[in-house]
Amino acid sequence: PKNVGILAMEIYFPPTCIQQEVLEAHDGVSKGKYTIGLGQDCMAFCDEVEDVISMSMTAVTSLLEKYGVDPKQIGRLEVGSETVLDKSKSIKTFLMPIFEKHGNTDIEGVDSTNACYGGTAALFNCVNWVESNSWDRRYGLVVCTDSAVYAEGPARPTGGAAAIAMLIGPNAPIVFESKLRASHMSHVYDFYKPNLASEYPVVDGKLSQTCYLMALDSCYNSFCTKYEKLEGKQFSVADADYFVFHSPYNKLVQKSFARLLFNDFSRNASSIDEAAKEKLASFSSLTIDESYQSRDLEKASQQVAKVFYDTKVQPSTLIPKQVGNMYTASIYAAFASLLHNKSSTLAGQRVILFSYGSGLSATMFSLRLNEAQHPFSLSNIKTVMNVSEKLKSRNEVCHSLFNEVHLMVGFYYHNCELKYL
Ligand code: ACO
Repeated sequence: PKNVGILAMEIYFPPTCIQQEVLEAHDGVSKGKYTIGLGQDCMAFCDEVEDVISMSMTAVTSLLEKYGVDPKQIGRLEVGSETVLDKSKSIKTFLMPIFEKHGNTDIEGVDSTNACYGGTAALFNCVNWVESNSWDRRYGLVVCTDSAVYAEGPARPTGGAAAIAMLIGPNAPIVFESKLRASHMSHVYDFYKPNLASEYPVVDGKLSQTCYLMALDSCYNSFCTKYEKLEGKQFSVADADYFVFHSPYNKLVQKSFARLLFNDFSRNASSIDEAAKEKLASFSSLTIDESYQSRDLEKASQQVAKVFYDTKVQPSTLIPKQVGNMYTASIYAAFASLLHNKSSTLAGQRVILFSYGSGLSATMFSLRLNEAQHPFSLSNIKTVMNVSEKLKSRNEVCHSLFNEVHLMVGFYYHNCELKYL
């Protein structure tokens, strides 16, 4: 099969949300901490009648219906999630009734879990399956679904919730450049969920930020090396049209992209002009550890990155800023934002994605965008996802309602009750 990749996408996020300004006021933090400091506008959350299974059912059903895909045509279904509702039964099995109804039980694949990375693992599995000898000419379907909820405190404003479904097959408008892929995997405790009766993670916020940036550096270095071997020339941020990041909150995306430019500076790459060189020169003597701690370096590289950020990153920030961290769905919601904002001009362009899941696993990979046949065209994906309408028709709630729902959902979780058993 040729041009294997993403044929179609659908996104669902809860219609219930709370403005970050409202959270700031309630939490008594200084005005602007969440909106400017974290760069977030609004946060979606599951109320008492929805969860990761209902969200993913909506995303899958809607994708099949809106693109006119026969459920019998799905040969592999993979779910990425870190929201554990059952220690044995996969979320994938909860989605099977959609296919059983149509007499299709011959569907491979189960769930992949590692914090926010599970969706990427699921996606690679499906793409690899289509490219393999076991492929039976049917479609793969990937679902990323999570509800990100943190305990009260500084991490709470970085929650969110969503499900994304992606149809995988040949002749796709979104094609994997499979040779351009670099990973970094390591054993750390930056964010984990040791308490099985709680939906809250244990999180070391500062460590998780540094781990994210270290994984980014490592992936980018390997990615550049692989590119250089393959293409015979150096890679820099100038060689991709867009960069899409896993987005726990927007400020980390700004810092991450700036970090890529600092890497380009250290490698003496072509994206760095004389003025930028001058701005970054004094940081070349920092040790790598010092470079993660230096506020001045962060500021200087963000300044250097600003022009590139506005064109190469900003178009992918819409949904993550409006919905929050959707864990496994976060990076694909960022990618969906890019399709939403730029669908008519994306053909022929290269997009680099960086997927990060605490604990940790991370991959940087490359996609090429093409025009393809309706219904699997970039413009139809934009139409089906209908992001503006979904964002516009949400209900913003006050803090007391938000709190009530958190207490209620926490209670379900603590008592290990599946809501719709
Ligand atoms: N106006 C503008 N900016 C402000 C204001 C204000 N009034 N007050 C604070 N800020 C800025 C701070 O300077 C800081 O920005 P900076 O990093 O550029 O300096 C930012 O707001 C956040 O403030 P902090 O004091 O650093 O925030 P805090 O430590 O309280 O919490 C954190 C932030 C650690 C990200 C927390 O929300 C958290 O733990 N989140 C979950 C972990 C996470 O998302 N990690 C990311 C990778 S792992 C993953 O994906 C889950």
